[in-house]
Amino acid sequence: MSKNSLSHLYSREAACAQPSAIRDICALVARPEVRSLAGGWPDPAKFPTEAIRRIFDKQIATHGDQMLQYGSTEGLEDLRQALAERMKTEGLTETTPDNLIVTHGSAQGMNLAAQVFIDQEDVVLVGLPTYFGGPGAVNARGGEAVGVLVDQDGLNPDYLVEEIKRQKTAGKCVKGIYVIPNFQNPTGVTLSLERRQQLVSLAETHDLILFEDDPYADLLFEGKPIPSLKSLDLSGRVVHLRSLSKTFVPGFRLGWAVGDEGAIRQMVVAKQFSDAATNTPAQYILLEFIRQGLLDKQIKENIEFYRHKRDFMLAQMKQHFPQEATWNRPLGGFFIFVKLPENMNAAELFQRAVDRNVAFVTGQPFFVDGSGHNTFRLSYSQVGEEDMEAAIREIGNLIKEDLAGPKQNKVT
Ligand SMILES: Cc1ncc(COP(=O)(O)O)c(C=O)c1O
Repeated sequence: MSKNSLSHLYSREAACAQPSAIRDICALVARPEVRSLAGGWPDPAKFPTEAIRRIFDKQIATHGDQMLQYGSTEGLEDLRQALAERMKTEGLTETTPDNLIVTHGSAQGMNLAAQVFIDQEDVVLVGLPTYFGGPGAVNARGGEAVGVLVDQDGLNPDYLVEEIKRQKTAGKCVKGIYVIPNFQNPTGVTLSLERRQQLVSLAETHDLILFEDDPYADLLFEGKPIPSLKSLDLSGRVVHLRSLSKTFVPGFRLGWAVGDEGAIRQMVVAKQFSDAATNTPAQYILLEFIRQGLLDKQIKENIEFYRHKRDFMLAQMKQHFPQEATWNRPLGGFFIFVKLPENMNAAELFQRAVDRNVAFVTGQPFFVDGSGHNTFRLSYSQVGEEDMEAAIREIGNLIKEDLAGPKQNKVT
């Protein structure tokens, strides 16, 4: 039987779902000798392994029966209560266990939200560039992700309005906007308060859902947090998606979503037929981790840790990159986005970097319209200082060689 011999039986949705090119790149460069700035994974050095072991041992001894049993689809009541309390401190004063669902990561939250809101051919506007999770979930429903430029303040509302009009004129149904407000993946930019307000009012005017994917919210390195779109939302149009992957551990696959109570109910129904419930032992461990005050402590430590890494990478880039390359200074999160001159091609640079055992992620897969050939993403999250310094020096040299040398690496 050939690999595709059943493809005529695939559902329309399955045929629309695309594998992530970024995951493919990360897998390609996972060899131990490669100094990789590609993956956006947290550094295992920050995993609270000892505390997790201690909590697990105690919990399994005292109430192993509950811990190893199926749980309710919406998540443990006490955990939802604890997460709702955290949301209140961020200005989401109306959050209760009834409008909050515990999910397997922010990724599942987006997927469930797409199941609830996206029909075949619906349009969702996404950043140019953006993390693939949003467009992927939309495409998997047979919807269409349409790109709108992200500038230094994030998604631009003027361009969004233009695109909404263009899509409506073409007879399309625009259902929503996928937005990563803080330290966006891949650009690292933060959506300004003014733009958050504009997006919420724009959603109101055009009857849209805002999919607010905010996995890096807790990793703010400097300045005051900007209110989430959800906290500005008076009519329940924002589905606010959160993750514990960057502040606790990604392997437990824990996250949560807050939204309109009816929409959250629908997400619970969708989850019933997906995985029935979120991993129960992981939820019990997280609940205890929060109760002992360890999550807040962990978040503080992670901020210090990743801020230091960001500063180190920025210093190396300043030293080794030529002035023709430009990049941003993220206020939090994991990523720095680099722009090369228009006539350069990051995919070819990537090939030469891999030959020298250095890796990054090219920008193009983050652009749903296929643009971004002269951009790439660097992640400082997982790599140690020695490797970071060597990798940045090597990439800087490659860019300089390109700028100085024959045109074999240029876009014609
Ligand atoms: C913007 C964005 N959303 C969602 C995710 C996935 O998060 P989780 O591990 O909670 O599923 C990531 C992970 O890199 C991300 O960058």
